[in-house]
Amino acid sequence: MELIVGGGIVGLSVAWRLSRAGRAVTVVDPAPASGASHAAAGMLAPVSEVSYTEEPLLRLGVASLRRWPSFAAELAADAGLPPGVLAPSPGSSGAPSYGVDFRADGTLDVAFGADDLAALDELAAFMGKLGLPVERLTGRECRRLEPMLAPSVRGGLLAPGDAWVDPRRVTSALLAALERRGVPVVRARVSRLLRASEGPGDGAVVGVELAAAAGGGAVPAEIQADGVVLAAGVWSAELAGVPVRPVKGQIMRLRSAEPLLSRCVRGVVHGAPVYLVPRGDGELVVGATQEELGFDTRVTAGGLYELLRDARELVPGVTELEVAEVVAGLRPGTPDNLPLIGPSGTPGLTLATGHHRGGVLLAPLTAALLQGEEPELAALCSPARHHPVPGPQGFGGLPYDKTSGSEEMG
Ligand code: GLY
Repeated sequence: MELIVGGGIVGLSVAWRLSRAGRAVTVVDPAPASGASHAAAGMLAPVSEVSYTEEPLLRLGVASLRRWPSFAAELAADAGLPPGVLAPSPGSSGAPSYGVDFRADGTLDVAFGADDLAALDELAAFMGKLGLPVERLTGRECRRLEPMLAPSVRGGLLAPGDAWVDPRRVTSALLAALERRGVPVVRARVSRLLRASEGPGDGAVVGVELAAAAGGGAVPAEIQADGVVLAAGVWSAELAGVPVRPVKGQIMRLRSAEPLLSRCVRGVVHGAPVYLVPRGDGELVVGATQEELGFDTRVTAGGLYELLRDARELVPGVTELEVAEVVAGLRPGTPDNLPLIGPSGTPGLTLATGHHRGGVLLAPLTAALLQGEEPELAALCSPARHHPVPGPQGFGGLPYDKTSGSEEMG
């Protein structure tokens, strides 16, 4: 049995895809779907979210976005959700919407000043060189697409292939799909990884030890496994010394009877990126701060002020909307902003963490890489880049697919 530590969107996706592939899996998490995935806006925007200094991340994002439509449709079916339960958003191209609110209406990046426009032009040229379809729009063309945009918007870049999804619907669909497949989800906190203490597998990870339940409920003392996949986001650092750090994001959910926007709108205001993601049900998600404050998940007046101030510059009408929710989450950031996916260097332990700003976007690709698909992209995510390269037998991890080439990646 393979044990997935972490029940966020990445861990649940890995568990679901492995189970579909016929593997015996178990998930362990004290509160599945409650961490960064719960806070996330769900932008699937590799083109507009990534700067031209991050081409490897862009490649990963584009590859994962390509997987999202079938991932969403299969997930909706496996979870027992009727596909297309939500109508396309008003004014949208009528792009498909599945039971997890997947929408592919594009992202509009907008610019105010001459400097912003120059940066957009540079980005458009870079995207063009990579063969990514983007359209450079005038301010008037931007407002024709999104009439609620501020009159001061001078131009924009439309990435028509970008999409978004409701991460809360996705994680609840993943939990439903796992339940329908009979995959156990153990609600408990992992206190440490269990290691073999003697014999040829000395030091190998062979399971996890669990902390006693806070409310005194029954929790096994440990779970033994053939392999462990660590998908615990920022908590991966304390469990296995993985180089991830918390990057706090505060985010607001606003609500209106009539949707203010029909597609995702982004911009850089006062030097900070801000985005507005419309949902099919009239919700507008405004995010997100980026703060390096350790494990601090307080929602602060200053954080909310900045979000609203910047969002109002893009779309003045946001101040009329009702505040439905404010929340903070911790992104697992890595030193190079690329995720850590693959054999950890310790036998029996595989990593699926460090997704930073892209956990929702990269979940389908992560599950595929762990099953040996797309070895070139897997090489970009190899945890071996952060530790000395052992010999050919040095990498452990799960024998997902002997053809994956992951042993050579270091
Ligand atoms: N991907 C958006 C964020 O991390 O805020």
